[in-house]
Amino acid sequence: MFARSSLVYWIVWLGCASPVGFVAYWLVTDHLGANPINTGMRFLGVWGLRFLVIGLALRPLRDLLGWAWVMRYRRTIGLFGLFYVFAHVSTYVGLDRFFDLPAIWADIVKRPYITLGMLGFLMLMPLGITSTNDMIKRLGPRNWRRLHKLVYVIVPLGVLHYFLLVKSDVTWPLFYAVLTFTFLGVRVWQAYGRRHRTEGPRSVAVNLNSESTT
Ligand code: HEM
Repeated sequence: MFARSSLVYWIVWLGCASPVGFVAYWLVTDHLGANPINTGMRFLGVWGLRFLVIGLALRPLRDLLGWAWVMRYRRTIGLFGLFYVFAHVSTYVGLDRFFDLPAIWADIVKRPYITLGMLGFLMLMPLGITSTNDMIKRLGPRNWRRLHKLVYVIVPLGVLHYFLLVKSDVTWPLFYAVLTFTFLGVRVWQAYGRRHRTEGPRSVAVNLNSESTT
């Protein structure tokens, strides 16, 4: 229904890019408050998480509502998620910690929310590097799909990171946790259903095999 080069693609792209525009505008116009680095960093982090969660929602949307077209934008949305998380971590490393590697290491070791965030970030990197058509060919679709299942670990890590860093009101982390576990639950349920459906014929095949060898 919608071509990749269509208006929808550009709307999705602009929608994904608009938070960068907003943060740049607020930075230039001095609207990031008393602690612009922290505000900007948190803004980038939360958008990273949002795009990763939206990425998880696409398959259930396709399978449950029949919206096959949403899958065309999965890579764009996933790469924007990666971009925001990368910008979030770069802001922390460069502007918040001034590349003070011992201080960053101390944070990673001492603060569980940073440890979990870093784990998620390290897992996200290979997904970004292997997101080109060339890398899909090189890895083979099967291995590529297996590797990209890491996203089912990365998003919960991002949510946990958020949970641990908020001091009192956990409404927003809880909101992302509910969405994440709903989408993951749908995937598990679908995988279980698939296995159940294929089990019958597979066991018949095994039985037939064993009959023929005896
Ligand atoms: C998958 C990776 C990650 C995701 C999805 C993520 C997401 C988030 C989110 C949603 C927030 C809270 C934003 C808000 O309060 O509105 C946040 C805050 C923060 N994140 Fe991350 N993050 C990730 C990785 C990291 C990493 C690797 C680091 C550092 C090495 C990091 C450092 C921080 C810091 C310092 C804060 C702010 C804490 C504060 O203001 O007290 N994050 N992140």
